[in-house]
Amino acid sequence: MSALPLEVSTILNNISDVARSLEAKKPGARESLISLSQELITTLELPSEAIQRMGWASPARNAHCRIGVENGIFEHLKESGKQGASARALAEKAKADLPLIARMLKHLSSMHVIKEKAANVYASTPLSDALVEPKFKDGIIYTFDVASPSFASLPGYLKVTNYKNPTELTNGPFQYAHKTTLPFFAWLDQNPPYLSIFNNYMSAYRAGKPTWCDPGFYPIEHLTAGFDSTSNPVLLVDVGGGLGHDLQELCEKHGNLPGDLILQDREEVIATLTPCTNFKATAHDFFTPQPILHARAYYLHSVLHDWGDEDCIKILHNLTSALKKGYSKVLINEIVVSEENASLAATSMDQLMLVLGAMKERTEGQWREILGKAGYKVLNIWKYPGVAESLIEAEAEVEI
Ligand SMILES: C[S@@+](CC[C@H](N)C(=O)[O-])C[C@H]1O[C@@H](n2cnc3c(N)ncnc32)[C@H](O)[C@@H]1O
Repeated sequence: MSALPLEVSTILNNISDVARSLEAKKPGARESLISLSQELITTLELPSEAIQRMGWASPARNAHCRIGVENGIFEHLKESGKQGASARALAEKAKADLPLIARMLKHLSSMHVIKEKAANVYASTPLSDALVEPKFKDGIIYTFDVASPSFASLPGYLKVTNYKNPTELTNGPFQYAHKTTLPFFAWLDQNPPYLSIFNNYMSAYRAGKPTWCDPGFYPIEHLTAGFDSTSNPVLLVDVGGGLGHDLQELCEKHGNLPGDLILQDREEVIATLTPCTNFKATAHDFFTPQPILHARAYYLHSVLHDWGDEDCIKILHNLTSALKKGYSKVLINEIVVSEENASLAATSMDQLMLVLGAMKERTEGQWREILGKAGYKVLNIWKYPGVAESLIEAEAEVEI
C-alpha cells in the first residue's frame, strides 16, 4: 500500500499517465499536465502555505516581473548567456541598489522565473527570456497596471453594489478601480500608452497555442471551396481584428489563399497601423451596418465577449444585411465555457472580463441563444483539445 495519502497518489498516477500522452505528442496533454500539477500543489499545500502563495509570494513575483521589464534585468540576464551574471553586476546594469536587486532576484528564482546557478549568480530561463520580447513585456505591463488594480478593487466594488453581477460598461469594477466613468476601450484611447500596450498584448496572449487556422481545428476548405470572387473578391473580413495579427497568421499558415482579406477596427486602432501587404485595413464601427457586402466570411475573434447580450445581437444584426444567403459565413472565435469542470483558461478569462468590461464568457447554450435571437443558425462548433477558444461557424437563418 502506498505511504502517500490516496488523493496525492491518485494525482501522481494521473500525472504519469498524462506524461505518456505528452511524450506521444497528444493534443491537450500539456494543458492537462499543467492542471494536474496545479491540483497537486493545492493538495499538498497547507492552508497557511496556500495563503502565503496567494497573498505574498505571487504578488511579489508579479511586482518584480513588472519592475524587471522596466529596468532591463531580464535583458541583462539574457545577454549574460549560460554563465549568468552576479546580483552585483545586474544591480549595476539596472542602476539600482544592490540589496534590493539581490532580494528581487532571490524571490524570482524561488518562483522559478529565473535560476540561481550559484550563490547570488543568476541565469535566465525560457520564461525570463520571453519577457524581453515587446509583446510579452506589454503583457506584463497591461496585466499589472490595468487588470490587477481591477481585481484588487473587486471586493470593495461588490460590497458597495450589494453583490450584483456587474453589467454596466461605465460603472463596473474597472471604473471603480481606475476612478473613471469611461468605458474600457475609451479609457485605453485616453490613457497612452495603454492603447498600444493592449493591442500588442492582444497579438500575444494566446501565443504558442493552436489556433482556428491550424490543421485539425477548423477546415479552411469550408471558406476556400465554393469561394466566388464574382460575388465579391473578399474572402474574409476580420471585424474588430485589432492590429491584424489573426490575418497575418492566416496568411502565414495558408499561402495562396484566394480572395482579399480585410481588417476592420476602430479609427483609433487603425490609425496606429503600419501598412501591410497581406490585408487592407479600414476603420469601421461594428455598431453600424457592415459596408463590405457578400464576403465569403466575417470573422469576430474575442469581440462578442466584450459586450452584453443585447449589444452582441446589435453587432450581429449589423452584419446580417451584408451576408449573401447560403454563401456568407459568420465565424465567431470565442471561449465556449464547459457546463461542468470548465478549464482554468475559460474561468480566468471570464474573471478578466468581469473586472475589465463588466462582461463575461459564455456557455454553448448561451451562444446558441444569442445567435438564435440575432437570426443565425449554428452550422458547427469546432474545438481543439486543450484550447479554450472554439470556432462557431454560423450563417444567417433569415434575410433581414
Ligand atoms: C478583445 S479585442 C480583440 C482583438 C482581436 N480580434 C483579437 O482577438 O486579438 C476587441 C477589439 O474590438 C475592437 N472594438 C471595440 N469596439 C469596437 C467598435 N465599436 N467597432 C469596431 N471595433 C471595436 C477593439 O478596438 C479591439 O481591437
